[in-house]
Amino acid sequence: MHILTVLDHPDKSSFSAAAARSFMAGATAAGHSCELADLHAEGFDPRWSMADIDADARPETTPPDVLQEQARVARADAVCLVFPLFWWGMPAMTKGWVDRVFSWGWAYDQLGDPDLSLQRPRSGVLLVPAGARSDEIRAKGHLQAMETTWIDGTFGYFGLSPRRLELLCGARGSADRRAALLARCAQIGATLPCPGA
Ligand SMILES: Cc1cc2nc3c(=O)[nH]c(=O)nc-3n(C[C@H](O)[C@H](O)[C@H](O)COP(=O)(O)O)c2cc1C
Repeated sequence: MHILTVLDHPDKSSFSAAAARSFMAGATAAGHSCELADLHAEGFDPRWSMADIDADARPETTPPDVLQEQARVARADAVCLVFPLFWWGMPAMTKGWVDRVFSWGWAYDQLGDPDLSLQRPRSGVLLVPAGARSDEIRAKGHLQAMETTWIDGTFGYFGLSPRRLELLCGARGSADRRAALLARCAQIGATLPCPGA
């Protein structure tokens, strides 16, 4: 498979950047080809603007940066988003990338059924480093909330199937903890299911 990894972190020494590298190393070792969209390094503009609104009605006016990202998605069989958990949600950069790139008329054209997309099926995984412990996240209902919003309600519209959320809890923990999480990222990259599986 050809796998697009979308990284949202300005610091190359961050845990998120390491998670993306481990994921791609696992995928490459398993024989997949990888492409990295390093959103901060590339200066992606996450602000949804009038140009994005106009493009809904006139797709020929779609902004060039959006077209470039859509082309990356189009040539991928799988998409992996890597972003740190910010206030139980996506950081602004990832949120803007999702808003602008998976646009109305390109990714989806209805709001009734999250399993209907205009895009062909692509395997999808969200690798999300989090500071909190997994028991805290579960006990307070945050994990269920993210699963509902992202897995049941968002990424199906974009054709990510099968799709999964992998919270990397304790990303600011001990060196052993972080090493175990990075090994998990490599394993996820090596065992990513085929689209539609
Ligand atoms: C603005 C901000 C908001 C955050 N919100 C959360 C949160 O809601 N839940 C959580 O578990 N961690 C939260 N964190 C911690 C980050 O998820 C954690 O620092 C990150 O996963 C560590 O990885 P990094 O080295 O890639 O930044 C937050 C951090 C920042 C800077």
